[in-house]
Amino acid sequence: MVYVTRIEHFNAAHKLWNHKWSVEKNKEVFGKCANENFHGHNYELHVTVKGTTHPDTGFVMNAKELGDIIKEQVIEKVDHCNLNMDVPFMEGRFTSAENFAIGIWNELAETITKSGSTLHCVKLIETKSIYVEYFGE
Ligand code: NI
Repeated sequence: MVYVTRIEHFNAAHKLWNHKWSVEKNKEVFGKCANENFHGHNYELHVTVKGTTHPDTGFVMNAKELGDIIKEQVIEKVDHCNLNMDVPFMEGRFTSAENFAIGIWNELAETITKSGSTLHCVKLIETKSIYVEYFGE
């Protein structure tokens, strides 16, 4: 089994806020991510697929095809958008990096399976000091 990772970048705004809580509690729990008028992150997305190498190409999956799928299924839906307001697959969810990684997985998995490969991991880097990984379960 070989694992292949494609890296893409995008920018998006969000706000973490729990409407059941007071302003003070939101700021205590979510810190700067609770800024009332939103804020942005420069996200780095690592998408890893796994499989065996194809006898005709030596590839697990064509990296350009994987890049095209990520752009079409994710980047075009989120880049320069407000995750709380503009992105249907995040509607009604807290826009934490964790939930965002799960949402990205759900946007990608079926198309990658149809292309004959298997999605292994979505790694989403939100800042230099934090990233999350989702393996589909
Ligand atoms: Ni944030």
